[in-house]
Amino acid sequence: MASSVSNSDRKIVNGPAGYVLEDVPHFSDYFPDHPTYPNPLQDNAAYSVVKQYFVDEDDTVPQKIVVHPDSPRGTHFRRAGPRQRVYFESDDVLACIVTCGGLCPGLNTVIREIVCGLSYMYGVKRILGIDGGYRGFYARNVIHLDLKTVNDIHRSGGTILGTSRGGHDTTKIVDSIQDRGINQVYIIGGDGSQKGAAVIFDEIRRRGLKVAVAGIPKTIDNDIPIIDRSFGFDTAVEEAQRAINAAHVEATSFENCIGLVKLMGRYSGFIAMYATLASRDVDCCLIPESPFFLEGPGGLFEFIEKRLKENGHMVIVIAEGAGQDLLSESAEQSTTLKDASGNKLLQDIGLWISQRIKDHFTKKKMTLNLKYIDPTYMIRAVPGNASDNVCCTLLAQSAVHGVMAGYNGFTVGLVNGRHTYIPFYRITEKQNKVVITDRMWARLLSSTNQPSFMRHDKSDSNQLAGEAGTMKW
Ligand code: F6P
Repeated sequence: MASSVSNSDRKIVNGPAGYVLEDVPHFSDYFPDHPTYPNPLQDNAAYSVVKQYFVDEDDTVPQKIVVHPDSPRGTHFRRAGPRQRVYFESDDVLACIVTCGGLCPGLNTVIREIVCGLSYMYGVKRILGIDGGYRGFYARNVIHLDLKTVNDIHRSGGTILGTSRGGHDTTKIVDSIQDRGINQVYIIGGDGSQKGAAVIFDEIRRRGLKVAVAGIPKTIDNDIPIIDRSFGFDTAVEEAQRAINAAHVEATSFENCIGLVKLMGRYSGFIAMYATLASRDVDCCLIPESPFFLEGPGGLFEFIEKRLKENGHMVIVIAEGAGQDLLSESAEQSTTLKDASGNKLLQDIGLWISQRIKDHFTKKKMTLNLKYIDPTYMIRAVPGNASDNVCCTLLAQSAVHGVMAGYNGFTVGLVNGRHTYIPFYRITEKQNKVVITDRMWARLLSSTNQPSFMRHDKSDSNQLAGEAGTMKW
């Protein structure tokens, strides 16, 4: 599933004062004579009262909004929203929606709002759901979606379409798209699925098909670059509060007690970081981006002893990807196994660190109670909360507007609070991580008052060499 975008394939527009537009493909780039039609929204009563509902063709959104007087204007993305002219006639549209990868709160809301957006705003009647992720294109039946089918689905967690990891066979997928006469493809998925979307788009373009492909980024880990946040993250952080509250109640009820909560976050610690900042009961937050060690001065055990001595209880939040280096040093066999999306299968840091903490206190002949809580899938197998549902609705509408307006090969995303169309390659080129030299991590350290667990040796400079890419809240 290799997608390589050469610089000549990138649509980069340079303007005055260092302005750069990283634009997305458009039907007019490769179908110059493609007919256009007036946007049906022009006759829609709901919009007739709204001035400037249509987005100006030249509107773009800056990636960086903190600037100095002499900073170049920098990278911009095309602003999402409806255009005056559309590239599809409503009756000609056959759209399909697929959900790929792990679950995420709000998936059903996005499905619902794509169906509602296409139907209410653009009069589209033919919409298919692809059953069970990418492999559903060629291995399963499709589901017919209409306003009735999707009416109540936002109340449930999961996805009514089913999902799976892997199963990406570009040729078979595009064959299926072509055979069925599908001309709009909406792909809801994380970075792996967006890579898949990019490859599907490349193949569609290579075959000269008039088919639009749009991605809606999804992951509770919030590790997709460029965008402010991915839908479902807010709900996951909120759900994590239940586990942290329980850990706090347990810890304060027993003598010398630690409540330890493991949260999802394979490569990035955003869920753990935001759940900690939201809670106020967490004494220590451990994430993959911030290395730590156990023994000796400045280590985790020393800090635990200190906190227990001061308060008699403490809560530790650990992201599943944290401390994997320690674990593989001591584990009998370090795992190189991967899941169907190509993610490394992690060993259970929560169980491992619980045992190490217990062993340490036994060795020191000190009383310790440790209550370990692993809410795992409970933080993502729920419906979206209010804020995520708003986010899902707007993302779905933005995707529909973009596709109808002829944009193609893009992911829709919130950049500095504005909806934009982002080229696939920008979304898939790297994963977003917590940058521990950024202010947000410092804010967390100030809130928990935990040490940084940095060893004061040469490796510190490597630990600090993070890339810019934290959330901009
Ligand atoms: O990718 C998001 C995520 O929630 C990770 O944090 C977690 O490791 C993974 O999904 C687990 O998903 P599954 O067990 O479905 O592969």
